[in-house]
Amino acid sequence: MTLDSVRETTATDRRLLARATLDNLNWNGRRFTMREVEDTPQFRHYYDGWPSGEDFGLVAEDTESVAVAVVWLRYFTAEDPGYGFIADTIPELSIWVSAERRCQGIGGSLLHRVTEVARSRGVTAISLSVEDGNPAARLYARHGFRPVPNGAPGCLLLEL
Ligand SMILES: CC(C)(COP(=O)(O)OP(=O)(O)OC[C@H]1O[C@@H](n2cnc3c(N)ncnc32)[C@H](O)[C@@H]1OP(=O)(O)O)[C@@H](O)C(=O)NCCC(=O)NCCS
Repeated sequence: MTLDSVRETTATDRRLLARATLDNLNWNGRRFTMREVEDTPQFRHYYDGWPSGEDFGLVAEDTESVAVAVVWLRYFTAEDPGYGFIADTIPELSIWVSAERRCQGIGGSLLHRVTEVARSRGVTAISLSVEDGNPAARLYARHGFRPVPNGAPGCLLLEL
C-alpha cells in the first residue's frame, strides 16, 4: 500500500481512535476490553472529545476508504496527563496499524509524515509512552525519539 490515501482525522474518527487505543493497550495480549477502556478516564482521554484545541492526526485508508492506520497527537495537561506527558505545550503521540498491515512500512511512513506536519504547525517536540518490551520502541528510536532524562519509564521525546 502506498500512503497516497492519507487524510486528516476528524471528529467522526472517535470510534477508530477508541479501537486503536484498545489495541495499543493490548499490544502484549488481551488485557482490557473496550468497555474497560471506555470506563477508564486515563484510557478514554486519548480519544474522548477528539479533536480538542491543537490536536491533530492522520489516517491511512485502503482503496475502499477503510482505515488501516492512524497516528494522532493530543495535548494533555498536568491535571489530566497522558502516560507520556511532559508539558502541556508538547503533544503526546499515539500510533496504530491494523494487525494485518503491520511490518509493511506503514507505521514508519505515518510517523515521518506526522512529524513533518507537526513541524509545519510550529510544534517543537513530541512525546510518547511505550511499555518495556514493546517492539514499537525500535521504530521510535529509529525516528529519533529518545528517553527523557529523569522522565517516567517508557516516556520518549522527539525534539523537532
Ligand atoms: C507499532 C506499529 C504502529 C508500527 O507500525 P508498522 O506499520 O508495523 O511499522 P513499520 O512496518 O513501519 O516498521 C516496523 C517496525 O515496527 C516495530 N514492530 C514490528 N512489529 C511490531 C508489533 N507487532 N508491535 C509493535 N511494533 C512492532 C518494529 O520496530 C519494526 O521494525 P524492526 O522489526 O526492524 O525493529 C504497529 O506495529 C502497531 O500498531 N502495533 C501494535 C500496537 C502497538 O504496539 N502500538 C504502539 C503502542 S506504544
